[in-house]
Amino acid sequence: MADSRGDSRTVEWSGPEISRIARWLHAHAGLTFPPNRRESAELGIRRVMGRAGIKSVSEFGNRLERGGALLDDLIAELTIGETFFLREPNQLEFIQREVLPAVTGQDGSCRAIRVWSAGCASGEEPYSLAILLQKTGCLSSARIIGTDLSVARLLTARRGRYRSWSLRGVPEAIIKQYFERDGAVYTLKKELRSAVDFSLLNLAEDVYPSPATGVFGMDVILCRNVLIYFDAPTVAQVAQRLLNTLSDDGWLFLGASDPSLSGMVPCDVVMTGAGIAYRKPGASKQLVSGAVFASRPSKTDTSDTAVSFFSPAPSPRSPSSTPYSPLSVAPPAARHSSSSHADIDLAYEAGDYERVAALAHVMLLSGDTTELVSVALVRSLANRGMIDEAVEQCSAGLARNSMSAELHYLAGMLQAQRGRHEEAALSARRAVYLDPELTVAHLTLAEALARTGDSRAAKTALRNAERLLAAVPAESRVRATDGELASRLLQIARFRLRSLTFVQA
Ligand SMILES: C[S@@+](CC[C@H](N)C(=O)[O-])C[C@H]1O[C@@H](n2cnc3c(N)ncnc32)[C@H](O)[C@@H]1O
Repeated sequence: MADSRGDSRTVEWSGPEISRIARWLHAHAGLTFPPNRRESAELGIRRVMGRAGIKSVSEFGNRLERGGALLDDLIAELTIGETFFLREPNQLEFIQREVLPAVTGQDGSCRAIRVWSAGCASGEEPYSLAILLQKTGCLSSARIIGTDLSVARLLTARRGRYRSWSLRGVPEAIIKQYFERDGAVYTLKKELRSAVDFSLLNLAEDVYPSPATGVFGMDVILCRNVLIYFDAPTVAQVAQRLLNTLSDDGWLFLGASDPSLSGMVPCDVVMTGAGIAYRKPGASKQLVSGAVFASRPSKTDTSDTAVSFFSPAPSPRSPSSTPYSPLSVAPPAARHSSSSHADIDLAYEAGDYERVAALAHVMLLSGDTTELVSVALVRSLANRGMIDEAVEQCSAGLARNSMSAELHYLAGMLQAQRGRHEEAALSARRAVYLDPELTVAHLTLAEALARTGDSRAAKTALRNAERLLAAVPAESRVRATDGELASRLLQIARFRLRSLTFVQA
């Protein structure tokens, strides 16, 4: 397999069928095999073929495309699941010292902080975040999500049982406090295990941010030692989606060996004592102490992308480029009955949620109890991260408009954000009962049911969403979303159906 110069570091694939598998893996999971990795990748492919008893490469390629256990085995073979507790401790310390106090209440109270470990492997990383949040006393109100492409690793993560290798370097006091030891096995205490939700998510697919995957509005994202598998165009796409998944004040942390995003996507680059962090453009105006703001790259960083380094003006609803606000929506113009309603609409379009809330309060005081006002108020509060206030206003709105499917849907979304999946499922059920065509309510119901372990009912809800979405033009905007296209939500619904089927099998 060596090339004509006999250089074993620049190896070609041994045949077109293997090359086809590599191309498919790139399209499916973003995995890239530069010449110096091809030989080991091909050996890996052949090992998996051997385990599955498949002799023909072309048959293997065809079976692979059906997904399932064969694909999972290959993913585990071709990627490294290496991880351990409290990895890159300086970064975790920075999160604890600088990030968590800013996103929890100034008075030390805890708001529902949202944290995502993207590419979490066997779970040590999201559990380390759980330990951090436990230390700050904010674990019970936190929502921690761990996702990966490998089902086998996610199953290990869910079990929360580790060997000492996963705990290398972890102080004895922490091990004693958070683990129960039985011989060589260390089991993470239940309180921490149940604080993390694990699910299958392929970072190379355009399925986030979205309420359908439960991945949106994150205060902290750790995506460490994952981007190394991707080529530059895939890194840029994934990075843009990760940034879109942040809340306005959120922070994205990569691993020390990951490629730099500077100049690749519009973002703020913050030099911290613990390495580089990334934020949405403009988010670093209020600086944390000790961090050096370096948002604009030099022209030489990227001559053709430097101009887009800062956030473009809010564009009219491009789902892949517009920062996603899970609850934001532009209420359709046809529903407006007065100029005040139009003012709310305009403020939404501008992303001025403070003004939306102020206008809505004034209208409520003047006796305007229409559904639109309550919906706008709830969304504007939620989009500013004021979840408790949004929940309160949602209940008040439902007291005024008990038959509002949209308010019941919002109540479900808010409960889901707090990790209260049973309550979320109840509210979403009410929403679909009142309006069976409210697609997003079916998706929220599916997610809540999946999180409570009822995969069968979750799949029924997903099929309902799929049916509704398949029946409308692909380019149409879906009601009660931030301009999401039917085609994208359909892709998400199908992705969830596939992953639930696989995890269940
Ligand atoms: C080295 S581990 C990183 C674990 C952890 N983030 C850390 O730094 O300790 C890399 C993980 O990325 C996952 N991965 C690779 N490609 C992925 C993709 N397209 N989507 C989601 N996860 C992916 C692999 O399955 C693997 O578990």
